[in-house]
Amino acid sequence: MTFLEKVEELEKEAVNKFESASTLRELEELKAEYLSRKGKFSTLLRELKELSAEEKPRAGERANFLKRKLDELLQSKLSSFEKREEKAPGEFFDFTLPGRRTWEGKLHPLTQTLDRIIEIFYGMGFEVAKGPDIETNYYNFDSLNFPQDHPARDMQDTFYLADDLILRTHTSLVQVRIFEKRKPPVKILAPGRVYRHEAINARSYCLFYQVEGFYVDENVTFADLKGVLVAFAREFFGKDVELRFRASFFPFNEPSAEVDIRCIICKGKGCSVCKYRGWVEILGAGMIDTEVFKSVGYDSEKYTGYAFGLGVDRIAMLKYRIDDIRLFYENDLRFLRQF
Ligand code: FA5
Repeated sequence: MTFLEKVEELEKEAVNKFESASTLRELEELKAEYLSRKGKFSTLLRELKELSAEEKPRAGERANFLKRKLDELLQSKLSSFEKREEKAPGEFFDFTLPGRRTWEGKLHPLTQTLDRIIEIFYGMGFEVAKGPDIETNYYNFDSLNFPQDHPARDMQDTFYLADDLILRTHTSLVQVRIFEKRKPPVKILAPGRVYRHEAINARSYCLFYQVEGFYVDENVTFADLKGVLVAFAREFFGKDVELRFRASFFPFNEPSAEVDIRCIICKGKGCSVCKYRGWVEILGAGMIDTEVFKSVGYDSEKYTGYAFGLGVDRIAMLKYRIDDIRLFYENDLRFLRQF
């Protein structure tokens, strides 16, 4: 095949391909294949030097013609692609549209409530301590004066793990863990998650949060306990909050009380959160029983102490006027984004 024939053939092949290219990428690939330094055109041009002096001028001119033709074809294809891209409706960019919103992360309403509770008690001189969620029967019950067969154990049925391990049913046992390590005075706040195997309804769940508070020193009285709890409630809910102390029983306290708050949701008229009683129980409390002091070696002649256990979920329900505790644990973003 002569040089001129080869040029003809390359022209046919290249023009055909350039014309049928339908994307920018294809065009780029063709440019590399035919017009780059190592491309088919340059390779053919190298054969020019083997031609005779008479053949060279005409052959060179023909080759130049092809090069120009392919360059022009490439440019016109490129600009037609650019025009098409400008017009393509899918590619249209409207600078006046508002930007896409990114969602800010937020703290869970229970965490927000817990943080506020801790902040208030911290201001009253409590330091914060934590205990494990997985506990032994001893700490959860025995150390707190719940004997094996005592009916008070039935009030706090739990989830049993291997051997003697259980999920703790309350935070009161953190008292014992601290008393074992430290001598009075101790003034501690112990927040955390607790678990109970019990019927689930609008106000009770199988896991929830408690904040335990306790203070042991000389001359600590029930009046101190009342003072701290009333101060907390006023700070948290506002000055007009109404509290009610009811006599109760906890094996690790004597005397014991439960504290209710006038239902903020129905203002005392009755709703599912207060079980139509107008009051919601938010905590258990009392003076620490001498039996507990004995088991940890505290001198009960010298020291007295109070303890209380707040139900964080119930407090959050009242604060945010939420009528079903299950909403806290369902992770529905439509609910969580409101806080
Ligand atoms: C106790 O757990 C005691 N440890 C509290 C205590 C501490 C008493 C220190 C004396 C001294 P009780 O079972 O009542 O007590 O629970 C305390 C609070 O936790 C309740 O007032 C309530 O607000 C909350 N609570 C109890 N059970 C549930 C539940 N299933 N779901 C949500 N909150 C609950």
